[in-house]
Amino acid sequence: APAAPFAHAMPVPRVLRPVRRTHTADHYRMHMREADVEIVKGLTSRVRTYEGTFPGPTIRARSGREVVIRQTNDLDVPTAVHLHGGHVLSEHDGLPMDTIAPGDSRLYRYPNTQRASSLWYHDHAHHLEAENVFKGLHGQYLLTDREERRLPLPRGRYDVPLVIRDARVESDGTLKYTRPSDCPNMLVNGKERPYFQVAARKYRLRLYNACANRYFRLRLADGSEFTQIGSDGGLLAEPVRQTELTMLGGERIDVVVDFSRYPVGSSVVLENTGALPTERPEVLRFDVVREARDRSRVPDRLSELPPMPNGTVEREFVLQTFPEMTINGVTYDPNRADVVTTVGSSEVWTIRNIESAVAPPDFHVWHSFHTHLVMFRVLERNGGPVGPTDVGLKDTVTLGPGEEVKIAMTWGEYAGEYLFHCHQLGHSSGGQMGRIDVRAR
Ligand code: C2O
Repeated sequence: APAAPFAHAMPVPRVLRPVRRTHTADHYRMHMREADVEIVKGLTSRVRTYEGTFPGPTIRARSGREVVIRQTNDLDVPTAVHLHGGHVLSEHDGLPMDTIAPGDSRLYRYPNTQRASSLWYHDHAHHLEAENVFKGLHGQYLLTDREERRLPLPRGRYDVPLVIRDARVESDGTLKYTRPSDCPNMLVNGKERPYFQVAARKYRLRLYNACANRYFRLRLADGSEFTQIGSDGGLLAEPVRQTELTMLGGERIDVVVDFSRYPVGSSVVLENTGALPTERPEVLRFDVVREARDRSRVPDRLSELPPMPNGTVEREFVLQTFPEMTINGVTYDPNRADVVTTVGSSEVWTIRNIESAVAPPDFHVWHSFHTHLVMFRVLERNGGPVGPTDVGLKDTVTLGPGEEVKIAMTWGEYAGEYLFHCHQLGHSSGGQMGRIDVRAR
């Protein structure tokens, strides 16, 4: 449904309260169920939710404290809950065949033995993940640690997740899962092109691309700079000035925007210059409505990254969409291990987006390559230096048409079955996914 932009105030997803806290863990309960929500002003859309909210509620976790979530599936489709970016045991990873049947529930344990990072949880049921995520099964998981809390970064109400995704809302309100080129609605935190009232000070904005099948190129409409402080795997070593960010499905970018440069009463729009010609570029309008004190700042040193993995094992992966969604010529088979590795193995993976000869001549597609369990580093892009948003610890890396990237990672610390796949979820649902078996040393 075409709708006037900026008709909604942008909600900040609520933080879920634990049902119980122990010395070592926070216990939560979530129900996956349908709910009626207003995405486009004046229309009611039936969506699939975690706990009735679209997107799901935010979990705030602390490094060193376990999070245990009892997930109950009150939907009529199977689901699997995956913590994207999480270091978790295989049986808690939400593998595609390890689903929760309608009416059942299960416990997921997240040890939080990793550094502060903006993670997210989303559905991963085999062949269903794209549609389930599109219909609303995704939510934020913000993990903090002592190193991060010591920094003078904006916090509390000035630290806000912006979950950005496309949608197609029909004129009767139906949220319809379809091709990205037929998804003219752009949502931030579940509302069509909202406005967000901010104070004239610095904000930490945690950008998520939660699209099933779409990339963004985001900038402030006045072209002004902002500061990138983090990526998928948490804080960068040092801040990077950016004016435009390319993000594919699954990626997170953590930025600080200083709204004190704008007079109270003015606005600035976040726009997507990667929008289709048939779409509006506006994503979100920031309205600067008041002055506020600001003691926050972005220090020159943000964090210590773990040492660069020193890879000895090399592997190569080619992603293709024709004639089928494949990696190295095969579609996902849960009974076949595509990579067998060992805890502690340091590896260099070369990943290529090279379409097959049977693809139509003008066919161009983006991929976003994601691995479970580990964070990796991007070593090279197209044989040269890495791109502006390849910095820091990553779990998802973008591949434009014809591009090649080299990434390095060290497997561990858990042995078990994991996955790698394209995070354009239409691709992974179609089979562009492989199984990794990590063996104990
Ligand atoms: Cu965000 Cu295997 O997924």
